[in-house]
Amino acid sequence: MADPSLFAQVSDYYTGKLRAHGETAQGVDWKDEVSQALRFEQLVKLLPLEGDYLVLDYGCGYGALLDYLRDKGYGCRYLGLDVSPEMVAVAAKRHAADARAKFRQGVGIPAGVDYILCSGVFNVRLGRGDEEWQAYLMETLRAFAAAARRGFAFNLLTTYADKDKMRPDLHYADPCRLFDWAKREVSRHVALLHDYDLYEFTLIVRKILEG
Ligand SMILES: C[S@@+](CC[C@H](N)C(=O)[O-])C[C@H]1O[C@@H](n2cnc3c(N)ncnc32)[C@H](O)[C@@H]1O
Repeated sequence: MADPSLFAQVSDYYTGKLRAHGETAQGVDWKDEVSQALRFEQLVKLLPLEGDYLVLDYGCGYGALLDYLRDKGYGCRYLGLDVSPEMVAVAAKRHAADARAKFRQGVGIPAGVDYILCSGVFNVRLGRGDEEWQAYLMETLRAFAAAARRGFAFNLLTTYADKDKMRPDLHYADPCRLFDWAKREVSRHVALLHDYDLYEFTLIVRKILEG
């Protein structure tokens, strides 16, 4: 388990963004709504449009992914999880009328989840060293792999970003290394999406149930 002070630091950071910018893309530290939605567009490629499955939105912020899903016609059950209590309170209030959605504060992945989607959780490393952040990232991804019954998808900043645009406070990951990890250790069904116009990639890992 990662150092508890890391989660406290992450929570304070994003709570500060929410207080400064409210329920907006900037309030979860994105540049704008367009790039936020472009990320969602990649992640939801994992999901079937129909079906009574449960999606965990890990690091849900104010619940913008749920708006996106409902707007696109996904009727799935949804659980939003976030380390920041204020984010969760805002998200739950915004979506109070959605009977198939719930929000919960925390970092632990509950049992019984079909899919996990995760957008933007691993980008800002808050002064933590590369080694520590890398260990935290892999521990969390292994937990996704163990918990998600049908698959998971997440995004990361890419080491293929233009060098002059890279920032020392952010974590950049090697997409080839993570593709290799997922393919060798998790599932034969892995897609690497690195063709959308952000300095990022999305990895989609499907667990195809045998028999
Ligand atoms: C960049 S924001 C993105 C929010 C949302 N996914 C979106 O795209 O609108 C990252 C969110 O993840 C939450 N978060 C970061 N690390 C987390 C963790 N280990 N467990 C749960 N939530 C986390 C933060 O509090 C923040 O709300």
